[in-house]
Amino acid sequence: MAATSSCIVNLGVKGNGNPEQPFSSSKSSQLLLSSNVSFADNNTKYCLSLHSHQTLLSACLTKTKKSAFVVASAKPEHLKIMISGAPASGKGTQCELITKKYGLVHIAAGDLLRAEIASGSENGKQAKEYMEKGQLVPNEIVVMMVKDRLLQPDSQENGWLLDGYPRSLSQATALKEFGFRPDLFIVLEVNEEILVERVVGRRLDPVTGKIYHLKYSPPETEEIAARLTQRFDDTEEKVKLRLQTHRQNVEAVLSMYEDITLKVNGNLRKEDVFAQIDDALTKLFEDRKLNSGSLAA
Ligand code: AP5
Repeated sequence: MAATSSCIVNLGVKGNGNPEQPFSSSKSSQLLLSSNVSFADNNTKYCLSLHSHQTLLSACLTKTKKSAFVVASAKPEHLKIMISGAPASGKGTQCELITKKYGLVHIAAGDLLRAEIASGSENGKQAKEYMEKGQLVPNEIVVMMVKDRLLQPDSQENGWLLDGYPRSLSQATALKEFGFRPDLFIVLEVNEEILVERVVGRRLDPVTGKIYHLKYSPPETEEIAARLTQRFDDTEEKVKLRLQTHRQNVEAVLSMYEDITLKVNGNLRKEDVFAQIDDALTKLFEDRKLNSGSLAA
């Protein structure tokens, strides 16, 4: 096994009893990468992850009676993506497709706020007042909420996909000051008459969190159809207020990410919108892999 740069090796042991439980039976230790990894016998499966400067490389070693196999895969570490667009431009829909393929952690400011409302907290009560008027929730509530979520171990480990944030120059500036800079800023461009139709037809599945549309993405079964809910701000009247807020802030936010912006035609079918995003992400992944050296097994 060889690597082009010095690496840290985290070695954990997977017992046979519970293969779904990673690194449960021993605390990870940190060693400098060595080309010879020794391990105990007993038909035990060993998993390790190698962290180099830019890349998380994971490998599994399975010891059998006669030989040891090494299966290695490389994925670029910490891919950081932001997705922006007017209300109902399809951000959430595209995030479902992106996370399914690329495994990033989806962080949606609107979802965090709705969870806060559902919790009954004081912040949630205040947030709802602004959301009902189609206005931005004050930074005192939203900025730390998003920052804390970005700092959670899963976002740090798998990379993140930030949806609907930042929405103002002050939010973008705060993110920059906290050191969060995306690799790509995706903007979904959709005509306004389409946005209104998408808002009023949108429905959500409270069980799976999946986004539906009565016309464009109808529920698969009658059971799902019966339990669908509608967001309190998904009316024609409220979307007009949300659009107004969006128009007031969008240029300032775009100006912060001009050099890494990907404008996507969001008027198309969701699969065709995703194809444009997928092309860009694939290229980003390939570039990362080329830049991050290789692992030879
Ligand atoms: P938030 O929840 O973020 O709402 P939004 O930005 O208005 O966006 P939506 O969630 O409505 O739409 P989407 O773009 O995700 O579209 P979707 O994929 O669901 O924010 C709500 C409120 O919270 C804000 O108004 C504000 O008050 C507050 N807030 C949020 N972030 C904040 C922040 N950073 N700072 C301060 N306050 C904040 O698609 C919509 C529908 O269209 C669905 O039915 C879907 O099935 C359908 N659809 C999607 N794509 C297609 C397609 N290609 N073709 C046909 N149909 C499609």
